[in-house]
Amino acid sequence: MKNQSIWLRSMLFQTIIAKAFICLMAILSQAAVAAPLERIAFGSCAKQDKPQPIWDAVVATKPELFLFLGDNIYGDTQEMSLLQKQWDLLGAQEGFQRLEATCPILATWDDHDMGANDAGAEYPQKRQSQQLFLDFFKIPKESSRRVREGVYHAEIFGPPGKQVQVILLDTRFHRSLLKKGFVQGEPGEGIRGPYAPNEDPGVTVLGETQWSWLAEQLAAPAQLRIIGSSFQMLPIQVGWECWNNFPNERKRLLSLLEQKRSSGVVFISGDRHTAEIMRLPRDATENRIGYPIYEVTSSSLNEPSGNFTGTGVRFINEINPFRVGLNYAETNFGLITIDWSKPSAVVRLQVRDQKGNVVLQQKIFLDDLKQVEGVPPK
Ligand SMILES: [Fe+2]
Repeated sequence: MKNQSIWLRSMLFQTIIAKAFICLMAILSQAAVAAPLERIAFGSCAKQDKPQPIWDAVVATKPELFLFLGDNIYGDTQEMSLLQKQWDLLGAQEGFQRLEATCPILATWDDHDMGANDAGAEYPQKRQSQQLFLDFFKIPKESSRRVREGVYHAEIFGPPGKQVQVILLDTRFHRSLLKKGFVQGEPGEGIRGPYAPNEDPGVTVLGETQWSWLAEQLAAPAQLRIIGSSFQMLPIQVGWECWNNFPNERKRLLSLLEQKRSSGVVFISGDRHTAEIMRLPRDATENRIGYPIYEVTSSSLNEPSGNFTGTGVRFINEINPFRVGLNYAETNFGLITIDWSKPSAVVRLQVRDQKGNVVLQQKIFLDDLKQVEGVPPK
């Protein structure tokens, strides 16, 4: 009898210890989920059939999240079995596998991973391609992302007061046809692309369903909102693919930010095989949000472009009045660091080279990404 009582007490003790351990693990895992993000890396334009040595530098920054901004592979086919093979090549890259083992990954796509150069809504295999994209990024079969039209997605990370919202737009699934004929400048006025602003009625970048979804996302609480767009939002003088191919959609985006009184917005983009940091000043006529709007473009992860100076320095001859500092044409990735320990969190928007060196940086205080008290937006 005495032995049985000891055994029972021992079992009870073990059960209590086991339950306490489970509770502790649950608390620890919640704490991990709720920990504020401090390092978010991102990039775009990765040729899957070429070496991708940049992942060493990306992983070395110990990112807590990586955002693929599109052209994550160059598929360029309507044959889904061929497109799948290109995704397999990215998956087989050792560097990519190390990234996967390092941090969560979120992604949107651009033209080449949807399946055709400069493609939009007219690409006939977009629904099938979307499923391959979601397969590659391990989105469960039962996810609502499987049934929406487009790969747009949003998540909020971190505890209340230190929340980072990531909004990844789909700029391809619904995008209207491009219009050619961008006005070319005189010599010395920069190289420009072919696409003219399309102001036809009814043209769109996001499509109505995604616009409604975006409005809902912008109403969610967050201190920093990182909006990822595959192509650039701010530039208006480049003539390559960008939001200004559809100026009314670009205005609609700026108006929506104003309507929602969205604080903490920063844009990130890719596509261009060049990197730059841009700012739409608070007092710019078209800035209706009440604080400066920054955009960081990072591209490419392994396929630089541009021209060379006589001394072999790669450069991009492009005019962009919103650019802060220089552009950078060698391979690169983006990093956003957030120091939450300061009274106003310090955000560093960075472009880093293949060795991880910071080549472009804009340091901002999160408090400066708010509408000024008592001063209504224009
Ligand atoms: Fe692209």
